[in-house]
Parts: sequence; structure tokens; C-alpha cells
Amino acid sequence: MRILISGKGGVGKTSIAGLLSIIFSRNGYNVLALDTDSVPNLAVTLGIPIEEAEKIVPLARNDELAEERTGARPGEGWGLLFSLTPRVDDLAEKYGVKINDNLKLVVVGSIEASKEGCLCPAIALAKAFLLHVMLQRKEVIIVDSEAGAEVFGRGLAEKFDLNITVAEPTIKSLHIARKLIRMAEELGIKDNILVINKVKDHLVATKLYRKVFGNTKTPFHLIRYDPMVEKLDQSGSGIGDLPPDSPFYKDVFSLYEKITHLIRRKRNNV
Ligand SMILES: Nc1ncnc2c1ncn2[C@@H]1O[C@H](COP(=O)(O)OP(=O)(O)OP(=O)(O)O)[C@@H](O)[C@H]1O
Ligand SMILES: [Mg+2]
Repeated sequence: MRILISGKGGVGKTSIAGLLSIIFSRNGYNVLALDTDSVPNLAVTLGIPIEEAEKIVPLARNDELAEERTGARPGEGWGLLFSLTPRVDDLAEKYGVKINDNLKLVVVGSIEASKEGCLCPAIALAKAFLLHVMLQRKEVIIVDSEAGAEVFGRGLAEKFDLNITVAEPTIKSLHIARKLIRMAEELGIKDNILVINKVKDHLVATKLYRKVFGNTKTPFHLIRYDPMVEKLDQSGSGIGDLPPDSPFYKDVFSLYEKITHLIRRKRNNV
């Protein structure tokens, strides 16, 4: 199962990706969590102390490793012929940060060449790694992404089994989410779930959903606003420290149950 968590800034992608990864791992699944944000912070959300998290060099910025694997130094990417098929099958083991026995995190960084200013060897390496993960790895893959599926481009985006687009309960946020889901569908991702996060009033959120998504078949899932999530953020603790009876934990857990249901359905169809 390869799951993309998408959505605009600050809606709760990392909190949801983090807790979902932890819940899957606590229930016996092997999980590989990938952070593709240009300012990665999934490590801290997963409970890695900030001083340690800051030392992690994202794959898409690891020029040294890129040179070792592609044969090109940063800045040489355009002029030189460098390997677009570098060895990447050992990277999850070598560079993955172990969160628990079943959960590993790889900080990939942004693979949007325009964002980093170049198509440099390190971005080529990160892309090759993502392609390898999407095609070969057998774990549950959970990708925390700062934008929509389109940044992965054709070839990579369509490999996701499920896109979860997160929005806040406002018309504006839901409109953006609808656009992102449409793009994901156009790129070939068949299963899409809208998550409305930070919900204070279920009725209001459901009405807003109907208004914006009324004529679509996109399923939705509500996650309540939970002040403990913000408190954890402020104290620097990981999202795994949330008590299982807190609203956020319970609602993410029921999202997990929906996903496992989908996994079983897909398996039975094969
Ligand atoms: N259900 C919730 N209840 C209360 N606060 C929440 C909830 N979900 C997320 N938050 C808070 O909202 C803020 C943004 O969350 P998060 O970092 O997960 O969002 P994001 O979409 O990953 O943001 P970015 O786009 O910056 O990566 C954080 O302070 C987080 O604690
Ligand atoms: Mg984030």
C-alpha cells in the first residue's frame, strides 16, 4: 500500500502522516515513512529530538552521496552525463531513521527541481530512490508531501494506491482540496479520500463538504480539532505520545481502519 498525504500548508498533513505511520506500525505492519517536504519536519513529529532531526541531511540535498552514486558533482548535472540509474536499493536501510521495530523514516526533501533551483544530481538520486520505493518495497509506504500528487510527475504519481488530501473546514480550503483530488485522479490515482481536519462542528463540516464536493463521489473522513496536538507540538514531543483515547488519535485510528479495509478489498480483487 502506497499512500500519499497531500494538501496545502498547515492543514495537518505531517501530524496525520506521523500518527498514521505509528498506528500502522503498532498494528504489525512494516512501514516506511517518507518526508518530501522542502522543510522536512516529520522526524520531529515522529519523536526524534530536534537536535538529532536537524542533523539529518535530506536525500535531495545530499551532494556527497549523490556524487558517490551518480558520478556527478553538484552544478555539473546539466553539462555532464551522469547516471540516472544510480544504486538506491540500500538507501532505506543505510539512511533510514529507525523510529520503532516496524517503522523507518527516510527524509527525502523536496524533489521539485524548480524549488531547489536546479536539476542537480541529488534530486535525480532522490527521484530514483522514490521510484525504487514505489516499485519494489513491500512495506506500507506513507509519503508526507507539501503539495499535490503532480509534483511527483507522471510515472511516479500513478504508483500511489491512495491519495489522502487534507483540508480544513473552510470553503476555501475545501476548494483547494477538490482541485488537488481532481489532479490526483487525472494522474491515475484511483482511490482518494478527503480528510477534513481540525473539525469543531461535525454538522458544519459535513455541510461544507456537500457544498463543495456535492456532485463528486469522493469519500470524506472527519478529524476533530484537538488542543493536545498543538500542545505536543509546542513541547517537542512526538505525536506517538498522544493518549489513544484523545480525539485526534481516535479519529486517525478510524482512518487507519478505513485504509486497512481498502487494502483487504484490493487484495480480494486481485
Ligand atoms: N486536529 C488537530 N487539532 C489541533 N491542532 C492540529 C490538528 N491537526 C494539526 N494541528 C496543528 O496544526 C499545525 C499544522 O500541522 P502540521 O504541521 O501537521 O500541518 P502540515 O500540513 O504538515 O503543515 P506544513 O504545510 O507546514 O507542512 C500544527 O501546529 C499542529 O499541531
Ligand atoms: Mg508538514
